[in-house]
Amino acid sequence: MISHSITDGINGEAIVPGDKSISHRSIIIPSISNGITEISNILKSEDVMHTLNAFKAMGVKIFNNHERIIIHGKGLNSLKKPEGEIYLGNSGTSARLLTGLLSSQNFDSVLTGDNSLSKRPMKRISDPLTKMQAKIDTSDGGCLPIKIYGRNLEAKRIDLELPSAQIKSGLLLASLNTKGQTKITENKITRDHTEKMLESFGANIKVSKVNNKKEIKLTGQQELLPKNIDVPNDLSSSAFFIVSALINNNSNLLIKNVNNNPTRNGLILALKKMGAKLLLLNERSINNEIICDLEVSSSNLRGCELGPEMADLMIDEYPILSVAAAFASSPSIFRGLKELRVKESDRLKLILLNLKNCGINCKVEDDNLFIYPSKHYQIRSNIIQTDFDHRIAMAFAVMGTKIGPLKIEESDSIKTSFPTFKNELNKLGGKLHWKK
Ligand code: S3P
Repeated sequence: MISHSITDGINGEAIVPGDKSISHRSIIIPSISNGITEISNILKSEDVMHTLNAFKAMGVKIFNNHERIIIHGKGLNSLKKPEGEIYLGNSGTSARLLTGLLSSQNFDSVLTGDNSLSKRPMKRISDPLTKMQAKIDTSDGGCLPIKIYGRNLEAKRIDLELPSAQIKSGLLLASLNTKGQTKITENKITRDHTEKMLESFGANIKVSKVNNKKEIKLTGQQELLPKNIDVPNDLSSSAFFIVSALINNNSNLLIKNVNNNPTRNGLILALKKMGAKLLLLNERSINNEIICDLEVSSSNLRGCELGPEMADLMIDEYPILSVAAAFASSPSIFRGLKELRVKESDRLKLILLNLKNCGINCKVEDDNLFIYPSKHYQIRSNIIQTDFDHRIAMAFAVMGTKIGPLKIEESDSIKTSFPTFKNELNKLGGKLHWKK
């Protein structure tokens, strides 16, 4: 449980951990490459450790050497059958990506997760894999535990029906160990960290634009060559500090080495549209990823209207963007938020419930969120329901820096993505208290 006092300002340099999406891929791809990869700045959160332990259980030698993780890759086809089930905690990314990878291995495996992950949809990954002749049994109408019968798959042409980098990445990982060329087309942009990392590991992958759609062609059964990785810092985690500096007076914040991948940076575009004082400095490239330093200061935000296309570029950032919108000078409308309902919680439901409890007028109609800020909000309840969702917990922890004591339930979930969040925010001037 977190509770608060109002901050006097958020100032200094925020130290944000490595990017979660890239950290998962920095374990998976080196583990199936031929040789040794050293990875620095990997995120050591619960979610990422579940991916790491899964590969240890499949015989990959992984060493922790001070600041670096060293992985001795076993090649595409030499993972070993794990002794028991693979438990993935709360991590949807591990579940979707590993389902793909394991479906073309030569052994059977079972994936399990915690209560929340066990309610999330897995047919979205098992169905397209079935088109490649994968054999996967899900439980309770499409959930974990799932049993994967590893076998040779067939390379196919697959049109992605849902905008999801997890599904796309699961299919790409399945294709790596599959003879022939798999073609995946994407109607909407999703984060492209997997494609970028596979390119840098020498995979036979070609990405092009055909009739406004993205087409990815991957020819499988070609060995991957190791490449050291320096994981950039996570924009999704930075988002909580960015917004806390924007909405609180007397704030000025620097965040270095943040990933600014154009398939992921919707939050920056949205906040700029809202009039945020947000500078992007020293843009550069590492391991095919763009990074920059961010300087943020207190701002008078205005509301904005975002279409569904923005949801693809910033799906994880709506909880914290909604907190920013609650303190803008005019209303905001965020459209096309259906996917928010199947994240670590029903985020659309919880954003609405918790904003209302904080006294902010808002509504949801047809998966569109409307927020009507007012200077005269009156807190109805200071209990924040999170349903164990880390991003809801952190977003409303930031809300509390502005409006005063909120009790964030089940805030332990924050460890899944950002174990140092509370100490870091307090170091910068947040006044959070952690209670058992
Ligand atoms: C992720 C993709 C997104 C995102 C998740 C991480 C990834 O999910 O919400 O936090 O690492 O590929 P979807 O691809 O299902 O939208």
